[in-house]
Amino acid sequence: MASSSKLVLVICFMISAFCIAIGAKFDQEFEITWGDGRAKILNNGDLLTLSLDKISGSGFQSKNEYLFGKIDMQLKLVSGNSAGTVTAYYLSSQGPTHDEIDFEFLGNLSGDPYTLHTNVFSQGKGNREQQFHLWFDPTADFHTYSITWNPQRIIFYVDGMPIREYKNSESMGVSYPKNQPMRIYSSLWNADDWATRGGLVKTDWSQAPFSASYRNFNANACIPNSPSSCNSNTTTSTNSSWLNEELDNTSQERLKWVQKNYMVYNYCTDSKRFPQGFPADCLQNS
Ligand SMILES: *[C@@H]1O[C@H](CO)[C@@H](O)[C@H](O)[C@H]1NC(C)=O
Ligand SMILES: *[C@@H]1O[C@H](CO)[C@@H](O)[C@H](O)[C@H]1NC(C)=O
Ligand SMILES: *[C@@H]1O[C@H](CO)[C@@H](O)[C@H](O)[C@H]1NC(C)=O
Ligand SMILES: *[C@@H]1O[C@H](CO)[C@@H](O)[C@H](O)[C@H]1NC(C)=O
Repeated sequence: MASSSKLVLVICFMISAFCIAIGAKFDQEFEITWGDGRAKILNNGDLLTLSLDKISGSGFQSKNEYLFGKIDMQLKLVSGNSAGTVTAYYLSSQGPTHDEIDFEFLGNLSGDPYTLHTNVFSQGKGNREQQFHLWFDPTADFHTYSITWNPQRIIFYVDGMPIREYKNSESMGVSYPKNQPMRIYSSLWNADDWATRGGLVKTDWSQAPFSASYRNFNANACIPNSPSSCNSNTTTSTNSSWLNEELDNTSQERLKWVQKNYMVYNYCTDSKRFPQGFPADCLQNS
C-alpha cells in the first residue's frame, strides 16, 4: 500500500498532474459541442442524452483533459432499428499525431447484434481494430464501458469484464499513447455509408429521432497542469490502483472467454490485410 501510493505520487510529479477521482455531474465535467439542441443534460446533471435525426447528430466533450486514468461511463444505446447509426465514445488528443482510444457502437436492424468496435491510435496511427458482439442487449438498459489507461497498458472493459488489452509495445519500436493528454468525446451520428453490414443497410429515417443516454460518469484520472488545489467539486483520492492495473489470472480467463465467444474481428489475425506480416504490436497483443 505504502509503496504503491509512493509510486503514484512519483508518477504524478513526473507528469506534473494531480490524480483525482470524479463522480461527476455532466454539466460540471462536460460541454455539449454540437447538435443544435439535440444533446441534453437532464435530471440535475445526472443524465445526458444525444439524439440524431435526418438533419444532424449531436455530441459532447469533457472540459478536462486526462493523462492516464480509469474512466467509467454507463451508456444505453439507440434501440429498435438502429442500423446506420454510430455512437462513438472515445478519448482523444488533438492534431495530426494525435493519440486516441475508441469505443464505437455500430447499430443494427432490430434483433441483430450491435458491433462494438475498438481501436487504439498512437502518434496519428490507428489500424488496430478489434470488434465484438455483446452478450446482452445494449439497448435494453445501461451498461458500464470502462477504459483503464496507464503507462503499461490500455484495458477496455464492459461491465467489469475485460474485452481487450493493448500492451505498451515500445520495446518493439511501436509508439504508445503516453505524452498527449486526451479529452473524452462522444457523439451520435449517421454513418450508413459503412456502419451496418459494411454500408448495405441504410438508416431508416422514419424511426428518427434516434437517441442514446449516458449516466454515472466516473473518472479516476490525472489532470495535467491542474491548479494545485483540486477542484472543490472533485474528491481527491489516493486510490490510484489503476495506475499499475494489470489482468490477473481470473481476468485473463475472462478476456479469453470474451475473445473466443464474442470477438468478430481482430487486426492481429487478418492475414489478408497484412500479407507482409502482422504489425509488431501483435506479438504482444493477440
Ligand atoms: C448486424 O447483424 C449482422 C447479422 O447478424 C451481423 O453480421 C453484423 O455483424 C451486425 N453488425 C453490424 C454493425 O453490421
Ligand atoms: C463547483 O460547482 C458549482 C455548481 O455547479 C460551481 O458554482 C462552482 O464554481 C464549482 N467550483 C469550482 C471550484 O469549480
Ligand atoms: C481501489 O479501487 C479498486 C477498484 O478500482 C478497488 O478494488 C479497491 O478496493 C480500492 N481500494 C481502496 C483502498 O479503496
Ligand atoms: C497464474 O498463472 C500462472 C501461469 O499461467 C501461474 O504460474 C500462477 O501461479 C498463476 N497465479 C495464480 C495466483 O493463480
